[in-house]
Amino acid sequence: MADNIVWHDHKVTRAQRAENKNQKPCLLWFTGLSGSGKSTIANALDVALHERGYHTFLLDGDNVRHGLCKDLGFSDDDRVENIRRIGEMSKLFADAGLIVLSAFISPFTSDRRLVRNLFPAGEFIEVFMDTPLDTCEQRDPKGLYQKARSGEISHFTGIDSPYEAPERPEVRLDTSTMSVDECVESLIRFLAEQNLITVK
Ligand code: ADX
Repeated sequence: MADNIVWHDHKVTRAQRAENKNQKPCLLWFTGLSGSGKSTIANALDVALHERGYHTFLLDGDNVRHGLCKDLGFSDDDRVENIRRIGEMSKLFADAGLIVLSAFISPFTSDRRLVRNLFPAGEFIEVFMDTPLDTCEQRDPKGLYQKARSGEISHFTGIDSPYEAPERPEVRLDTSTMSVDECVESLIRFLAEQNLITVK
């Protein structure tokens, strides 16, 4: 960090920003292999929350890598930096009073822990998309597994780059056995049980 930097407290607090929106901010962090359903479920939950009048924002790997993180590739170091930036950005959006949905492979346990530690207890919800590699590879929505198998791309998660599965995620979903609606229902139920939303 640069020297001579002093933190300024905002006049409008985090709590006041959330109160104006009539909601509790939190971060739903979707982690899992490419093709495991992170973006699909995050989008479907985003719609469900939006329809109920909640103020949300969705961040996802492919989009953020077009802008904020376009200087980063898929080496271990670049993935660490990618998740650090997304974590900080997610925190800023939550500080603004939003319910944030972030969908990134985020393969390393230590990086996910760093993001968790940016949040007050109970406001970081790790959603592990526990869809088996076989299913993700069969889906291969972007043709990337095929390219990884043929050696056309390297450092591909699940093929020649590791994925460290969460041990104690708040929510575990498997889109090979659960429908999109079932996944969304279980997330809505979890948020309601935690008093983060009221089911309307
Ligand atoms: S992360 O590992 O740093 O969290 P992130 O979620 O931002 O990854 O980006 C993953 C997306 O980038 C995938 O959905 C896929 O479309 C694309 N991608 C391109 N190359 C790779 C690769 N080597 N490994 C994984 N995903 C890749």
